[in-house]
Amino acid sequence: MDQSDVSGDLANVLLTEEQIGAKLDEIAARIDADYAGKDLLLVGVLKGAVMVMADLARRLHHPVQMDWMAVSSYGSGTKSSGVVRILKDLDADLSGRNVVIVEDIIDSGLTLSWLVANLRSRGPASVEIAAMLRKPDAAKVDVDVRYVGFDIPNEFVVGYGLDYDEKYRNLPFVGTLAPHVYS
Ligand code: XMP
Ligand code: MG
Repeated sequence: MDQSDVSGDLANVLLTEEQIGAKLDEIAARIDADYAGKDLLLVGVLKGAVMVMADLARRLHHPVQMDWMAVSSYGSGTKSSGVVRILKDLDADLSGRNVVIVEDIIDSGLTLSWLVANLRSRGPASVEIAAMLRKPDAAKVDVDVRYVGFDIPNEFVVGYGLDYDEKYRNLPFVGTLAPHVYS
């Protein structure tokens, strides 16, 4: 198949580019209001959060800074274990800063709850979370997420930063994969 045409790999489109954009408009307005007059550092989690970070940050009127972390979750197969290793740490010192972690998706919540605890230990003024997607039926731990884009069914999704085998991240929408792709 032509590398550039992945439409045959998708079972359906869950969220369109328009739906994602409209939701990001809302979240950006809330962040602008919540952090008016305050310092704000957005922390993106690589690689999945690249699209959300870019599209959210450019909607903000607030003069934010952006930094990035890469983490890897030890675990069997695709399941997160909650034991996390830092592959790339932040450049920024968090002491006294207001931090919003920007994530693509919360599945079990294990990665993010580890990350919140880790960042809180660095002496920030505050740590909140903005996640584009959340799978409520997959939650193993409660994570307090201030800004959520969409609650979605407990299915594997790709696009808008999310990958299957490092593919599909550049799709501008979120979709589910057709079974022939992974079976
Ligand atoms: P936990 O379970 O710790 O995992 O909340 C979050 C991370 O797991 C990845 N993940 C997905 N990636 N489609 C993906 O492409 C999915 O449906 C999916 N669910 C979880 C993702 O890296 C996320 O940061
Ligand atoms: Mg991720």
